[in-house]
Amino acid sequence: MNIVLLGAPGAGKGTQAEKMIAAWGIPHISTGDILRKAVADGTPLGMQAKGYMDRGELVPDLVVIGLVKSRLAESDARDGFILDGFPRTDGQAEALDRALGEMGMKIDAAISIDVDRDVIVRRLTSRRTCKSCGKIYSLLDPTVDPSKCAACGGELYQRDDDTEATVRNRLSVYDRSTAPLVDYYRSKGILHAIDGDRPVDTVFADVRRIVGR
Ligand code: AP5
Ligand code: MG
Repeated sequence: MNIVLLGAPGAGKGTQAEKMIAAWGIPHISTGDILRKAVADGTPLGMQAKGYMDRGELVPDLVVIGLVKSRLAESDARDGFILDGFPRTDGQAEALDRALGEMGMKIDAAISIDVDRDVIVRRLTSRRTCKSCGKIYSLLDPTVDPSKCAACGGELYQRDDDTEATVRNRLSVYDRSTAPLVDYYRSKGILHAIDGDRPVDTVFADVRRIVGR
């Protein structure tokens, strides 16, 4: 099954993708994760992307579309994939459909995770991520130890774009450029909207029902 995870910053796309990978082992293609790694490694792609990401703006379509096309051409994506944070513009959605069509593939389900804005700002300013394995945590969860990753012992860090001002800009960019994609996928008959403001496992139960696994 080829799945697109839609939803505003902080809606829980990465968190649900972690659960989906653990359950089904299909590749998780997160453009945000790919770009953050390029920034950390200081590659030309990372140097090009960093300014946009720090401001909470979108990296230009051409750059991101190229990245995703080459990732989708890898053999492990033939048996299903989860796209997280892509597409984010009409141009990206159309380029994705064209590229998949050329490979004899298509998107089977677009899952939109919906969460209120005030909840999102609280979530994002409290998020921590493991530097080693990428696992996502919330300091709003009193059981989380902020000194190390419970899965691998790695150091937890706060993303550069999780300051309140940048979060607010990311939310307006989302409203302007990405929210219209909900209608794009609805018109194709493959949109599934779920309430993301419930416990992680409850949200995941809905994801499972949609995916039928
Ligand atoms: P990206 O990395 O894609 O960030 P985003 O879309 O802003 O989404 P986030 O990763 O912030 O949120 P999420 O929905 O994954 O939430 P999470 O599960 O972590 O993009 C970053 C930047 O890269 C962009 O701004 C842009 O510059 C660039 N970029 C990326 N893709 C691009 C593209 N296609 N085109 C152009 N530019 C692109 O959860 C958040 C927090 O909430 C965590 O602390 C988590 O523990 C907690 N949480 C999750 N679920 C729940 C729940 N059910 N209950 C309570 N807490 C929860
Ligand atoms: Mg994410």
